[in-house]
Amino acid sequence: MIQKIQTLSGYIHEYQKSITQPEEFWGRVAESFHWQQKWDQVVSWDFEKPDVKWFLNGKLNITENIFERHLYTLGDKPAIIWEPNDPSEASITLTYRELYEKTCQFANAMLEQGIQKGDRVIIYMPMVPEAAIAMLACARIGAVHSVVFAGFSANSLADRIIDCQAKAILTSDGNFRGTKTIPVKAVVDEALEKTRTIEKIIVLKRTNIEVTMKEGRDIWWHEAIEGVSTAHQAEVMDSEDLFFILYTSGSTGKPKGVVHSCGGYMVYAEYSFANVFQYSQGDVYWCTADIGWITGHSYIVYGPLLAGATSIMFEGVPTHPHPGRFWEIVDKYKVNQFYTAPTAIRALQAYGLDPVEPYKLDSLKVIGSVGEPINEEAWHWYHDHIGKGKCPIVDTWWQTETGGILISPIAGVTPTKPAFATLPLPGVQLMIVDNEGNELKGNGVEGNLCVKFPWPSMLRTTYGDHERCRQTYFSSFKGLYFTGDGVKRDHDGYYRILGRVDDVINVSGHRMGTAEVENAINEHPKVIESAVVGYPHDIKGQGIYAFAICDLEGRTEASLKEEIKQTVSKIIGPIAKPDQVQIVSGLPKTRSGKIMRRILRKVASKDLNNMGDTSTLLNPDVVEEIIKGAGL
Ligand code: WTA
Repeated sequence: MIQKIQTLSGYIHEYQKSITQPEEFWGRVAESFHWQQKWDQVVSWDFEKPDVKWFLNGKLNITENIFERHLYTLGDKPAIIWEPNDPSEASITLTYRELYEKTCQFANAMLEQGIQKGDRVIIYMPMVPEAAIAMLACARIGAVHSVVFAGFSANSLADRIIDCQAKAILTSDGNFRGTKTIPVKAVVDEALEKTRTIEKIIVLKRTNIEVTMKEGRDIWWHEAIEGVSTAHQAEVMDSEDLFFILYTSGSTGKPKGVVHSCGGYMVYAEYSFANVFQYSQGDVYWCTADIGWITGHSYIVYGPLLAGATSIMFEGVPTHPHPGRFWEIVDKYKVNQFYTAPTAIRALQAYGLDPVEPYKLDSLKVIGSVGEPINEEAWHWYHDHIGKGKCPIVDTWWQTETGGILISPIAGVTPTKPAFATLPLPGVQLMIVDNEGNELKGNGVEGNLCVKFPWPSMLRTTYGDHERCRQTYFSSFKGLYFTGDGVKRDHDGYYRILGRVDDVINVSGHRMGTAEVENAINEHPKVIESAVVGYPHDIKGQGIYAFAICDLEGRTEASLKEEIKQTVSKIIGPIAKPDQVQIVSGLPKTRSGKIMRRILRKVASKDLNNMGDTSTLLNPDVVEEIIKGAGL
């Protein structure tokens, strides 16, 4: 297992080593894994193309590193503890041995259904143990999983199926979330009206709602595994074989399939998990994310299981059946490391301390935050009332594309600072540049956050469109990976993430491209043109504000606004639904016809200071009208 960093001087030493001798450093970390064949070169890279490879010609299977590597010592240890949505339903504990057997069995079942190495498999499932089993079984046979968050619409699901030409879908009849029962298979059926590649659908029975099953294509999960062997020899994967695809939003309309490969992702997932959270054997760890996001991949499933940890999976929502549910679960399982998102912290903070007070929370050692900048107020509330002043907060900065945490305190080892992600992990070589690409050296600087040297779990490409990967991440600043985030390095050398500098909005920790939302709005027949911006939102971090030019004939403003919101919900999913819609007669444009989003952002955030010179616009009058229309 990974040797954890234990002291501040240990961190400094390890960091130094990782940048002066990266090959030796990562080679040593990788030695602790089980390789079917050892690599013959640690890294080769070229950020211009981009072409990055780690542990070249190494052969492995990540599930052997989760199971076979641990079974002798940890076979009877809980790997996954599942807490259902409804607290009166029984929870489920799967030991490493049980999870291994279920993974192998489902791997065999998939093979029997004709799913093979290299096939793309969509996982569209609720937060149940089978979702993790589905991912692990894909990894076992070398099928490429692409998990799609079960809150996405049929349309979003179809886009992803088409983009990766998926052959199979693993899904469920329905999904319990809070007081709701949500149809899942029905959404899959709707998506399939638009797609042509799906040959198999395996459906888990979870809610017992009525579903239609198509003869020959659809099969129940329990039938697929009936009588199937629980023994399976792991597929041999090359270190650089495609491991999984995860779609994420960017500044253009279409979500892109971020591609991760086998070897580097594995090494970095365990390394970062073990160090950041300082997991010790016997600890119980809980990350509240959904497996549909990268956090669920790296820090519910792969990182913790590689480290032989006990990882809790929670099906429900933080406020059901009461707003103390998170804290109740922490006490129930004596959780030691708890990892959640600022939006959840702020939402729970809004209920006051009554829901927190009945719980001891004394098992907690480390509490974490991910997905968006955590404001100081939420940081202090989390620190004082959940961590009881004694748990370090690991504010972890990373991205779908980075595969693992790149900037974060190492719990109890390196210092924390409210609202700061603090310092890079070993192996992570950051650079801050101005808009022209000049490096901003020293401390007390602010600019664009880039990385200048590869790390093992970085994305390799965007599925089916390598040029898009190059353009998006490697062309803004020559020779650098550009994150899309603004950052400040303060006088002590600590990093504070300032948020996106591109047209991406971060709503409750979910990335939304403004163009993606605009495209959805424009689908409404009465909409002529629209512009979407983010604005500060107390709970969600950022809210979505849409300005739309519409043909109002036959509609009231109120009814049209509601229809626009519903259109977005239908096309992308409820998470993308605009919080505010303002109907306007025009949008502020430059003489070359470019929408001046800066002005719209000002209006949406009700801040009319420094509007800048609007007289050079094509249509300066429209600004006054928009300001009035916003009630300012
Ligand atoms: C933002 C989530 C501030 C950031 C793991 C990044 C953060 C985007 C933090 C990636 C943090 C994530 N502090 N901002 N600790 N963590 N972000 O791909 O803007 O869903 O670029 O990955 O979330 O979102 P993604």
